[in-house]
Amino acid sequence: MRAHMLGNMRDHLQALSEIQAALAAKQLDRAADIAETRLGMTSLGTHGAAHMAQYMPKAMQDIGTEMHHAASRFALMAQEGDGQKALENLVQVTQQCVACHAGYRVY
Ligand code: HEC
Repeated sequence: MRAHMLGNMRDHLQALSEIQAALAAKQLDRAADIAETRLGMTSLGTHGAAHMAQYMPKAMQDIGTEMHHAASRFALMAQEGDGQKALENLVQVTQQCVACHAGYRVY
């Protein structure tokens, strides 16, 4: 479980990096696609989120859920070409990374 979760985590960071690269290249569609499939609500199945969530305290689950929602909102705004609103939601994505890491450990 821990190994699976940390593997997901490394992919989250990789995805953020790819999103920023796409934004820098003004490829909003590509940024949206990466965000939705790797961090957004669409990613829940591939990450085995439902299986993992049952081992997390409720408050931790909520942070994770908010992260996935924020990533999907980012994707929607980026698809609509609203770079400013997209960025505001990307900030909320990274804030959830920070909030969860500040409060929880697996080791
Ligand atoms: C719901 C909680 C939660 C959220 C949200 C979360 N993480 Fe994590 N993450 C953790 C925990 C717990 C660890 C393990 C920390 C430990 O035990 O020292 C971790 C570890 C990591 C690691 C280290 C992986 C390794 O191989 O050791 C990376 C990188 C990481 N997270 C990136 C991210 C990024 C980027 C985001 C946001 C897009 C994110 N995480 C969101 C809980 C979370």
